[in-house]
Amino acid sequence: MKNNEIVSYELVEWFQNYKRDMPWRMSKDPYKIWLSEIILQQTQVIQGTPYYLKFIECFPTVHHLARASEEEVLRLWQGLGYYSRARNLLHTAQFVHTHLKGVFPDSYKGLLELKGIGEYTAAAIASISYNESVAVVDGNVNRVISRLFQIGALQNEGKTIIKKLAIELLNKSKPADHNQAMMELGSLICKPKNPKCTICPISVHCMAYRDNLIQNFPPKLIKKTQRVRYFNFIVPLMNTGKVFLTKRTDNDIWKNMHTFPLIESNEELEHNALFIEVGKVFGNFEVLNITTFKHILSHQILKATFYMIKLETHSKIQILNEPLNTSPLFALNPTSLNFVGATFKKNNIFEVEIKRLREQYSLPRIITKYMENKEISAFLSSLCL
Ligand code: ADE
Repeated sequence: MKNNEIVSYELVEWFQNYKRDMPWRMSKDPYKIWLSEIILQQTQVIQGTPYYLKFIECFPTVHHLARASEEEVLRLWQGLGYYSRARNLLHTAQFVHTHLKGVFPDSYKGLLELKGIGEYTAAAIASISYNESVAVVDGNVNRVISRLFQIGALQNEGKTIIKKLAIELLNKSKPADHNQAMMELGSLICKPKNPKCTICPISVHCMAYRDNLIQNFPPKLIKKTQRVRYFNFIVPLMNTGKVFLTKRTDNDIWKNMHTFPLIESNEELEHNALFIEVGKVFGNFEVLNITTFKHILSHQILKATFYMIKLETHSKIQILNEPLNTSPLFALNPTSLNFVGATFKKNNIFEVEIKRLREQYSLPRIITKYMENKEISAFLSSLCL
């Protein structure tokens, strides 16, 4: 046996003994494998499993998913972030349903044609569902190979070498188990920090372990600086048990999801200056709470401030019931407030019942995180009629 074959043999044997039970592992159905892989690109197995189960319960087949509304899909995806993945999921389900009679392409090449399916996902589906000999390279596999062969080159050069080694290492007769074993080893044993080398089934073959250089591989990427944005959410509560919400329509984060009315600024705002402007829209109000926290997305840091205010009964906001119109509901003073943008549009702000918020509207994690705060949740519950 050649060395690569021995490594793969030992790896697959370990996998067969120690693999975790995952609901999608009971199936080879490409729909289920696709769904699980897209979810697992956003989160880890433990957090992703309830999402997978919810999706399968609501949409047991690609036909069911294809008939869903975007709102439904976004709501189920809520909390996973990177919502364009959820939109692509729906788009691809509709494509497979309409143009392919519900049958996924049966090869790596064919799968690559579908929206939202890149090399990683196509290789995962093709190998797991169809036992096609294609190697999966995700972050876990990249780390395993980088350590096994001491591959230190960064970016493109390193990626090409790792891909080549992944193909060489692939067990051509058991690609499904081999690929899953590589990913499983990366998440359970060959972890980024504190890898469990003493119980690793292939440590005797690992060059970084041999030279005591595990922590040097893979080399750390220098992180690009993240864009910082200041988000000022107004949470206008009414004693009718309702709150105002807006739908985001621009090509920006959280497209087609809902948030509280938002004013984006270039820097932190002075509360009183903001309140004067807010009063012009909502009339008199009482400030109940101001909460600030940082929320980190993959490429952006959001510095969020939530201003919870209680409106007077049927204040000025009545004008919102006027016919649809895209003009801004009010003009913020750009110089005093360092205004960047606001979602206070007449056609885009509406009252919703607080108790229906979570079940009826797709809300980004920043909003649910805010609502889960104990004090905030108490305020909201006290107004739920
Ligand atoms: N991470 C993503 N997909 C995986 C899979 N199929 N098995 C183990 N870990 C994974």
